Amino acid sequence: MADASKRARRAVYPGSFDPPTLGHLDVIERAARLFDELIVAVAVNADKKPLFSLQERVEMLRECCAHLPNVRVIQLEGLLARFAQQMGACAIVRGLRAVSDFEYEFQMASMNRQLAPEVDTCFLMTHQHYAFLSSSIVKEVARLGGDVSALVPANVEKRLRQKFAPPSAGERTEGENHPSTGDM
Ligand code: PNS
Repeated sequence: MADASKRARRAVYPGSFDPPTLGHLDVIERAARLFDELIVAVAVNADKKPLFSLQERVEMLRECCAHLPNVRVIQLEGLLARFAQQMGACAIVRGLRAVSDFEYEFQMASMNRQLAPEVDTCFLMTHQHYAFLSSSIVKEVARLGGDVSALVPANVEKRLRQKFAPPSAGERTEGENHPSTGDM
């Protein structure tokens, strides 16, 4: 057998993960079965004002993926295509929920192919349970005190509760607001 065929097949699953949802975890678990190694790449994304810091998002994902020995969680700075090349990945994995996702995903996949022709984008259809799910909707519901326990891993739910907990009297300062979601 040629050497190339013995090389570990590595894929990158990039995203903002602000916060990670059960939909993301479903894609991670399935991609981890399809590839020898999966790198979950948490984007810095200067255009968005995330609710969770990069460090918090990386930590949450590491906790969520602790049961998956072939999954690593790394922060992603700069171009995804270059990152995938540097990691020696053969594929970029993205989840597709609905037709509405397609245009953006098609644009991104085409640009990434232009930049790194040897890295294919591989789409996994989101499980039907999570077809409606997004990080933005989770943040909105959690911010307004709704129950998101069926939508996010338990560790993420806990962190959301902490984020949106009313400040105690000692912490409260005049004019201070609760965190807002800021993005999407
Ligand atoms: O979860 P998201 O917010 O839909 O993920 C978008 C993400 C992080 C995959 C995209 O913004 C990205 O690839 N960012 C890295 C910078 C980059 O390469 N931009 C050009 C994409 S064609």
